Amino acid sequence: MKLASGDSPEGHSKVSLMPQSFIDLRSDTVTQPTPAMREAMMAAELGDDMMGEDPTVNQLEARMAEMFGMEAAVFACSGTQSNQMGVWSHCTAGDEMLMEQTSHVGNYEAGAPAVLSGVSVRTIPGDSGRLDLEHLEGALREADEHFSPTRLLSLENSTNIGGGRTYPLDQLERVGAWAHEHGWKVHLDGARLFNACVVRGYTPADVGRCVDSISVCFSKGLGCPMGSMLLGSAETIHRARRARKLFGGALRQAGIVAGAALYAVDHHIERLAEDHALARLFAKEISAVDGISIDLESVETNLVFFELAPLCGTAHNLQDRLYEQGVRLYALGSQRLRACTHLNLERDDVLRAVNIITDMVSHLSGDVDGAVHNRYP
Ligand SMILES: Cc1ncc(COP(=O)(O)O)c(C=O)c1O
Repeated sequence: MKLASGDSPEGHSKVSLMPQSFIDLRSDTVTQPTPAMREAMMAAELGDDMMGEDPTVNQLEARMAEMFGMEAAVFACSGTQSNQMGVWSHCTAGDEMLMEQTSHVGNYEAGAPAVLSGVSVRTIPGDSGRLDLEHLEGALREADEHFSPTRLLSLENSTNIGGGRTYPLDQLERVGAWAHEHGWKVHLDGARLFNACVVRGYTPADVGRCVDSISVCFSKGLGCPMGSMLLGSAETIHRARRARKLFGGALRQAGIVAGAALYAVDHHIERLAEDHALARLFAKEISAVDGISIDLESVETNLVFFELAPLCGTAHNLQDRLYEQGVRLYALGSQRLRACTHLNLERDDVLRAVNIITDMVSHLSGDVDGAVHNRYP
């Protein structure tokens, strides 16, 4: 385990931040706040945010709005909440929103567009979670009474289940302009947008120019215990504040977590490159294992997706066996697995995980008929 690079100048001792002894590659949401982040939280000035009086939340919202070149911002409890505040702000009941088929907003938010906003979700296939005009042009519908009007396009950058992939800036510009020409609003689920900025070298403001609203998370790669932000025009964010109240997420002395986010924005963005380097290391090492296949070119950020050969059993079986050996990652389909690097992992943790995976997979094999025998002790 290690402290994030921004912590050491303040002289904290190197303590383990993970209370558990296992190597947790399930998600970047498992991180513990660093000692310096906890200090920032303790020092944060607090007030009643619902009354607009929490100075730390106000500072964070102003800072983020400036960073993204957006008029306004509103702090939210989670990425799900800020995404759904965006949906509610752009749409009315009976509208439709369009997104790539692996999108978090449509697949992993408990059906919230339908439940909270009365909005139907239409998904279309793209390229590793990303959409371009070639995917979108066939999705246009005529103004016909049979159809619910398409009001909103939702994009994800970097993609999660799509494979941890990022949009080139010109693609975001092209897609955003095309959607606007057709009268649609564009929301960006940027739960891991800072990872994309670090990989691609564009700024948050570059991305802000392409879309109408952005949700960013502080609780993923940035290592905060909770918190997200919705950014947009003053009008959109005015509506989003109403949605936040409606969804039961209005906040009081939220500066205690906004203080963590301010700390993370200062200290944990550039270091995301370290997570990406660890992900590439992990991917390269496991690509040598018989029974694992992985497209090394696809590893852009901190998410590594790989396939287990059917003769080695199912991804869930491997996940469960690795759990017993102290390595945690996710099976996401019959043969597909995901590992995620983050700020509480060291190079040694990753290499130890690779050794355990290598050993395990070499013990899992099938016979010539394809029947699976799990021979791991
Ligand atoms: C791409 C993406 N969007 C949104 C979310 C939702 O964030 P939260 O778990 O904070 O609700 C996640 C969570 O992992 C995610 O990966």
